Parts: sequence; structure tokens; C-alpha cells
Amino acid sequence: MATNAEKKKLYIKTWGCQMNVYDSHRMADILRPLGYEVAEEPDNADMVILNTCHIREKATDKVFSDLGRLRPIKDKSAKDGKKVLFAVAGCVAQAEGDFILERAPYVDMVFGPQTYHALPEMIIKATGERVVNTDFPVDSKFDKLPSEHDSQGVAAYLSIQEGCDKFCTFCVVPYTRGAEYSRTAQEIIEEAKAMVDNGTKEITLLGQNVNAFHGDGPDGSTWGLGKLIEAIHEIDGLERIRYSTSHPRDMDDELIEAHALPKVMPFLHLPVQSGSDKILEAMNRKHTSDHYREIIAKLRKARKDIVFSSDFIVAFPGETEADFEDTMQLVRDIDFASCYSFKYSARPGTPAANMQGLIHDKIATERLARLQALLNDQQKAFNENCIGMTLPVLLDRKGKRDGQLQGRSPFNQSVYVQANERLKDQIVDVKITHGFDKSLSGEIVTGETVLAAE
Ligand code: SAH
Ligand code: SF4
Ligand code: F3S
Repeated sequence: MATNAEKKKLYIKTWGCQMNVYDSHRMADILRPLGYEVAEEPDNADMVILNTCHIREKATDKVFSDLGRLRPIKDKSAKDGKKVLFAVAGCVAQAEGDFILERAPYVDMVFGPQTYHALPEMIIKATGERVVNTDFPVDSKFDKLPSEHDSQGVAAYLSIQEGCDKFCTFCVVPYTRGAEYSRTAQEIIEEAKAMVDNGTKEITLLGQNVNAFHGDGPDGSTWGLGKLIEAIHEIDGLERIRYSTSHPRDMDDELIEAHALPKVMPFLHLPVQSGSDKILEAMNRKHTSDHYREIIAKLRKARKDIVFSSDFIVAFPGETEADFEDTMQLVRDIDFASCYSFKYSARPGTPAANMQGLIHDKIATERLARLQALLNDQQKAFNENCIGMTLPVLLDRKGKRDGQLQGRSPFNQSVYVQANERLKDQIVDVKITHGFDKSLSGEIVTGETVLAAE
């Protein structure tokens, strides 16, 4: 253990997907034995890590503006004779390592998502020289991560799979995160049990392409995600299971059936990107819009109350008004509970970046606004429809106001309630009284149990 005198401050800022959030926690775990304690603010930090995202141009730009903003911290400490380590991690580091070192000469370390288990050695080096580590090592970073880590709390993430072999033509992930890799089922089950022993009640299984999971099972066969969920479902004390993010192509029957299990939450984020078959083909998604409709129908059959969210890209190269209308129609057909939607952003090195038929930004903006208006209407209608229902809510954090707690409904909505702090980390029945654009509020049900409204 580090003594007080050796305590150092570590500031980590994270962009991008849940996988990056997860990785930031693990970096903190690795650095803790070296005396680094996570600080909320960058002032007086001994080390600053920016864990970056490369998915869209805007996400990437933020790295350089933040580096510029944080630089005075480094300069000020240097005057006092203290070296503050600046590190850029994550997917921008992986994709643009050398460019970062060139453009921001004060950055000491640049390392990709597959290499941060080597952080202690990198730090030793960086106190002398600058470091770039963007290898794709043969062995997995999971083998080297400390098995003991801080409890992530009552609702926690568990990484089961990394990387992506799908190569959608717009996407950087296969290049920044590398090839698909699945952990073994045994390893995951043991970690899930340890998390539950530490107080976790809800586990979200995580992966860039989580339902492409194909890990070695304890019986010698290869397990898919459906089978893994069945095994995790057996863990006493675990109450809720979710997984993210999936691809429609990997929704096999075993996984669809797993949705009938009571601990699997009736909510699925299943990105479709477009409703036009022509655009889906140009995106290399390898599914059609009808294939997506069929999967949704099967899931609704397996689990009556399931609701969906998705990701959409508008104005992909070559998207006509008719293609866009196909997307709008798919949205009307499915009726989503919540969604993310983005304007297409050309990413260097991806096949789509060289495609003809770029859509003018004015048209892209206008289509995005139309799609978002429809998606917002659906989300609002879904939330309003919950008024009067009694939903079990896992109150995992304080709300925005005094005396308020906040948590997630089974349908992944944020729910706010006035509640005694001792109810934090509990699953409580909440009678929904208000449905807002992006959240719900309600009252804790006391006394006899009220059944959920149909
Ligand atoms: N693995 C997930 C999502 C990864 S990225 C999947 O397969 O769906 C999250 C979302 O960002 C994507 O679903 C997509 O909608 C969006 N996205 C990815 N690349 C993009 C780009 N070049 N331009 C705009 N949006 C993009
Ligand atoms: Fe990107 Fe497609 Fe892989 Fe998702 S499935 S991470 S969108 S390449
Ligand atoms: Fe972004 Fe990398 Fe995740 S590009 S979305 S942080 S995998």
C-alpha cells in the first residue's frame, strides 16, 4: 500500500461508449496500487488521462480542445518542479497516435485500448521519455488486469467481449478496437459472482458487439450469449441482466429465448442504422429492414413487454429522400422507447469515406431534425403511457434535487422519486405519476403491493 506521502492525484476524462467508461475504471484500478487516487477535478493532478472516442469527427475534435484547456495545469506544475503526466488513451490514441504527439508536444503518453494493462511500465518510462503504445498484443489485456477491483456499485458493467469483425463501412471501431475477442464463460461467471458478493444487483454485459460473444464454455463447447445469460441468471442475489451493444445479425434463437428469463430486463438496444435496404447494403450491415422487423417480432413473442431502442445514421452517402422515408417508416413500424440518431460523419480510413453521393449538410440537418422529432414523439408517448403503472426501480444514485433518489425502470427509463436515502441501492416499487420527454417521476408504493397496470 502507498503511504499518505506518496498519494498522487489522477484525473481521468472519458468520452465515447460504455466500453470506454469501463476501461477508465480499470485504468484507475491498475494505477491505485501505485498510489494514484481518482480526483473529480484536474487541478493539482499528478496525472491526466483523456480516454478518447473516434466514432465521429466532433468526438475527435474535443480531445485537442481539452488538451489545450488542461495544458496550463502542466505548465504551472512544471514551474514548481513537478512533472504532471499527460496521457491520451482510447480510440483517438489508437487511430491518430503519431498525430497527437506531433500536434500536442506536451503529451507524454499515447496508448490504445488494448495496451493499458502496461500502464505501470509506461509511467516509469514516461518520467524519462515520451511513450506510444498502440500495439494489438497477442495476449489479452483481460489476462493482465487486476482481478480485484473496486465495487462499481449496485448497477455495474461487466466486459465479456471486445472488438468487432463486422466492418460496417462507416465505422472506425474494427480499426481502433481490433478483432473480436471473447472471454471464457467461466471467467465471466466468476467475475459476475464476485460482483454480486460485493453488492451488485444489476449487471450489464458489455461488448462492442456483445451478441457476437462466442466464449469457451466450462463444458468444452463454445457458448453464445444466450447460454451465457442463462448461466448468469442462476446467480443468487443478482436481480437484473442487460447487455449492450448488439448487432441484428447476431440475434440468434437461443439469445431471443433468453429474453423470456425473468431477470433479463424487457429492454433491448438494437442498432439498425437505416430503414433502406440499399443504404443498409452500402453500409455492409448484411441485414435488410424486414430482417430487422422479423427479429423484433420474434423478441416481442418471447417477451411480451419488451421495448426497444436503436441507433440511426442519416445522410449516409447516396441516401435519397425515398431512402430516408424508408427509415421513417421503419421507425413508425417498430415504435421505439428511446433512440440515438446521428448525422453521417466521414471517418478517415473507412470505406464509406471514399464513397460518392455525399449529402449536403443542409439536407442532413433537416433529415436529422425530422427523424429526431418522430423519435422524441415516440419516447414521450411511451413515457406518458407509463403513468399509473407501478414499476420496480433500482435506485442507484441521488437525484438532482434534495431528498430525491434516481434509478432505472426495467425499460431503462430514468425515474426520479422523493425517497429516504436509506432506500438507495434498493429495488423499490414506484407508482409513476409523470412522464416527461426523457424521464419519469413517481411515488414510492408503500403498504400492500400494487400490480403493474396492463
Ligand atoms: N457496435 C455498435 C455501435 C458502435 S458506435 C453497433 O454495431 O451498432 C455507436 C453508434 O455510432 C453506431 O450505432 C452508429 O449509429 C454511430 N456511428 C458510428 N459511426 C458513425 C459515423 N461514421 N457517422 C455517424 N454515426 C456513426
Ligand atoms: Fe461499428 Fe458495425 Fe462493428 Fe458496430 S457492428 S462496431 S457499427 S463495425
Ligand atoms: Fe468511441 Fe471507441 Fe467506443 S470510437 S464509441 S470509444 S469503441
